[in-house]
Amino acid sequence: MADLRNTFAGIRSPNPFWLASAPPTDKAYNVHRAFEAGWGGVVWKTLGEDGPPVVNVNGPRYGALLTPDRRMLGFNNIELITDRPLQQNLDEIREVKRLWPDRAMVVSLMVPCNEAAWKAILARVEDTGADGVELNFGCPHGMSERGMGAAVGQVPAYIEMVTAWCKQYSRLPVIVKLTPNVADIRPPALAAKKGGADGVSLINTINSIMGVDPMTLAMSPSTGGMGSHGGYCGPAVKPIALHMVAEIGRNPETAGLPISGIGGVATWRDALDHMALGATNVQVCTAAMTFGFKIVQEMIDGLSEYMDSMGFRTTADFQGRALPTLTDWQYLNLNAISKAVIDQDKCIECGRCHIACEDTSHQAITAVKDGVRHFEVKEADCVGCNLCVTVCPVPECITLRTLQPGEVDARTGRTVTAEAADWTTHPNNPMRQTVPA
Ligand SMILES: Cc1cc2nc3c(=O)[nH]c(=O)nc-3n(C[C@H](O)[C@H](O)[C@H](O)COP(=O)(O)O)c2cc1C
Ligand code: SF4
Ligand code: SF4
Repeated sequence: MADLRNTFAGIRSPNPFWLASAPPTDKAYNVHRAFEAGWGGVVWKTLGEDGPPVVNVNGPRYGALLTPDRRMLGFNNIELITDRPLQQNLDEIREVKRLWPDRAMVVSLMVPCNEAAWKAILARVEDTGADGVELNFGCPHGMSERGMGAAVGQVPAYIEMVTAWCKQYSRLPVIVKLTPNVADIRPPALAAKKGGADGVSLINTINSIMGVDPMTLAMSPSTGGMGSHGGYCGPAVKPIALHMVAEIGRNPETAGLPISGIGGVATWRDALDHMALGATNVQVCTAAMTFGFKIVQEMIDGLSEYMDSMGFRTTADFQGRALPTLTDWQYLNLNAISKAVIDQDKCIECGRCHIACEDTSHQAITAVKDGVRHFEVKEADCVGCNLCVTVCPVPECITLRTLQPGEVDARTGRTVTAEAADWTTHPNNPMRQTVPA
């Protein structure tokens, strides 16, 4: 029976599913309901320094990219950190933690980039009995213009400095939440490690603009006729998040640094992707905002059943297992040859594969055979690119088959060999490595 218990950065929770710092974790009412639904932990909505709270816009703060049947692909927001008084949040955190001692209670923080401000808030958070702090170095709008959030997360030296202050002034585990709005995620992650972080979490939201209203040619959504860029998240950002999680996981300088994977997690499958690529647990925002807290039950059941079917006892049995299969393009095996195969019993003859391959790939799928509508792969033209697989509306109707050693590639006439060969040694590569004579 799968054991979902999880320890991330020294913080224990009954399962690896946490709610990310955002509206779902904004107040005690929500977090009680989230814990009742089964979430293993929460990162409380980001707190700022004492004093008058920030003020949000009173117009639309959210926008979405929807499919034609109105399913959510991407979600955009221009919300700031909590707009409720600091003490009220701290009192609620203390009370919720008291009532739910087995759940992870992490508090997200964002205060100005000076030592006194961090020292002051850390003491007050520690006093609530919370399990850890997450430093919000990721918020890409509003707060970054005030020198916080992504403005810190984009400068590794600042990340290291603030993380070190937090380690100095608090006994709590320190998680550094990274911004994806950088060219390379490795230096910020390394800076967090150098500052003494117990773990990193990523991604926060991505700089984004949703579009314009075609009738007014104004930003959409807009408030008072104007808009500003926001932060993008939801299913569409998962591949970006996975890349960044994996880069940290496979970088020798940060390998082993605990990672909380965030970005596009809506199902147990999404969680598995993050965890197999190096995350210890996952955090969820958009999916909870779209479907409500009870989605965690599907995540728990789905992951448990998967683990049982694979013989995995704990999540550690598969965590990071996909990382050794990730490499740089130059090391991919150019001798591995694939061809598309269409299952004629499943084909509904819609023609999408033909038109995609005919217009934009390698003209390798028939439309007609013997005067009859018929879709079949011409192996002599197929380069195994996978386009037809991705456009076919019928699951498993088109698959790719890898040719075995000894088979002849009908496109090149060459016999497939068992030896791998990559770009580093390819004759067409002017920079190829040659064996010294
Ligand atoms: C409306 C909204 C408000 C958010 N507020 C915060 C915040 O206060 N602090 C923070 O660290 N991240 C905040 N985030 C980012 C999320 O915690 C999370 O990193 C991001 O949404 C990616 O996860 P997802 O794809 O599951 O939504 C917010 C996201 C949304 C949608
Ligand atoms: S794999 Fe690519 S080249 Fe081959 S049939 Fe499909 S779309 Fe065409
Ligand atoms: S896209 Fe799929 S279902 Fe449609 S013709 Fe091609 S193989 Fe058949």
